[in-house]
Amino acid sequence: MALLEVENAVRERYSQGAQERVADLCCPVDYDPRYLKLIPEEVLERDYGCGDPSRYLREGETVLDLGSGTGKICFIAAQVVGAAGRVIGVDMTGEMLEVARRNAPVLAERLGYANVEFRRGRIQDLALDFDLLDEELARQPVTSAEGLLRAASLADELRRTRPMIPDGSVDVVVSNCVLNLVDGREKERLFQEIHRVLRSGGRAVISDIVSDESVPLALQQDPGLWSGCISGALTESGFLAAFEAAGFYGIRILERQQEPWRTVEGIEFRSLSVEAFKGKEGICLERRQAVIYKGPFREVLDDDGHRMRRGERHAVCDKTFRLYQKEPYRSSFELVEPLEEVPLEAAQPFDCSRTALRHPKETKGQDYDVTTEAAGSCCAPGNCC
Ligand SMILES: C[S@@+](CC[C@H](N)C(=O)[O-])C[C@H]1O[C@@H](n2cnc3c(N)ncnc32)[C@H](O)[C@@H]1O
Repeated sequence: MALLEVENAVRERYSQGAQERVADLCCPVDYDPRYLKLIPEEVLERDYGCGDPSRYLREGETVLDLGSGTGKICFIAAQVVGAAGRVIGVDMTGEMLEVARRNAPVLAERLGYANVEFRRGRIQDLALDFDLLDEELARQPVTSAEGLLRAASLADELRRTRPMIPDGSVDVVVSNCVLNLVDGREKERLFQEIHRVLRSGGRAVISDIVSDESVPLALQQDPGLWSGCISGALTESGFLAAFEAAGFYGIRILERQQEPWRTVEGIEFRSLSVEAFKGKEGICLERRQAVIYKGPFREVLDDDGHRMRRGERHAVCDKTFRLYQKEPYRSSFELVEPLEEVPLEAAQPFDCSRTALRHPKETKGQDYDVTTEAAGSCCAPGNCC
């Protein structure tokens, strides 16, 4: 199938789904009922999700929802992030956007603040705002081959000068049952776009339909199965690998539906929610820090290739040390600072390509020979020792 054929089949099906509830589009989800009370009924009834990424959001965050449909996840997110946060929904189907945009002021009125907006575009091309492009094309309609080339260059200029979602502008990218609808030939670009729009330290929380075996070509070429979240599903491991290939780290499965949502020709399709972080890029500097992996596994391998043996003091660069202070690593490591801090300006390059141990003398200083009394109350009368 041609790229546009796939996209048109998806758009047509969801255009219909925006106007009336279509029962077999994706699986039922239990959302937090506290957040549903304020959301208009027509939004709730046209729910085509398969998970609930909004559960993992925090107050004050800027959130981007890919394939926002009639806006349900955006409207839940608006309440979780509060008046200090912001939510942007992107969808390519005009009819879906129409319902979402019509209901945004209704929710704002009920909440007492307005922090949600919707934009029209394709999630594999988050720089191009279709509404802006339409405005330009209305001024300069395409009526010839030259006009088509001019339109392509206009689109490039819009991406550069007025991007729909600028680089590094978002704290969290969420999506609910949409990534599978993007053709396999554009999936790599899609994951790169998610990475591009996130700020360093930001994260993606994505719920989607995945399969336990690769989807055979015959199923991939069925337009009905495309829009029904089957044909374009990645395998479970392929889904995680796609985040890895785009440069994410700390990737983990948050939820995996136990029973399959559908089984087609023996292949099981189920919902998976995954979290992945951006921000492992940057230079590696030596500041004599060490980390100790706490277990329970004998050893682990991180996304930069550091192999950490349980209980050992591993030498790490400043960047890795800082990453391990945060989610998702925080609870798995003890962090050991040097006794004397190495100022950032004085730090030398650190070779992150090898796994090295850090002797305690390196942390404390070679001349360290202090002897002390027992510290704190640990050995006070009645306590241990
Ligand atoms: C299965 S529905 C999910 C809607 C919503 N996330 C929810 O939880 O109800 C898929 C949505 O993604 C949109 N969509 C599919 N492919 C898209 C693409 N490439 N770019 C933008 N939107 C897309 C469809 O228009 C539709 O609204």
